[in-house]
Amino acid sequence: MDLLNSLRQEIVGLNFPQTLQRVVSFLRKNFAHYNWVGIYMLEGDELVLKAWDGPEATQHVRIPIGKGICGLAAREKRTVIVGDVTAEPRYLACFPYTKSEIVVPIFKDSKVIGEIDIDSNTLHAFTEQDRELLEQVADLLGERYG
Ligand code: SME
Repeated sequence: MDLLNSLRQEIVGLNFPQTLQRVVSFLRKNFAHYNWVGIYMLEGDELVLKAWDGPEATQHVRIPIGKGICGLAAREKRTVIVGDVTAEPRYLACFPYTKSEIVVPIFKDSKVIGEIDIDSNTLHAFTEQDRELLEQVADLLGERYG
């Protein structure tokens, strides 16, 4: 069974908040280079952290749309991959050991409703394969929302 089908099975019968928590834990457990996984949902013009899995909590629990890679991905409605966070001035630092990041918007009816944010402790950790999988996970969340 492929990973996406396993994930579909894992979230059967869960409500949306439970689904978010299951998804972040599932992703972190299945991918060694996903060191911190969070899901933010859009509330007004802020991204609000709803679920996360990783070694420690982030202080960035509310991110205005204008800030960070998270804000950029929401504003531009596209996946953003940062291979080296030290070379990206828009990056908002959460953890001293993060080296690269991917942020994938979640859409409902073509509008951004949230996003998946993953930090890696490895430089250039995220590939097109990660993007493809995570965009499918985001689609799944968009289907389940509301
Ligand atoms: N690095 C993000 C902020 C969120 S933390 O990674 C959890 C950003 O630049 O928007």
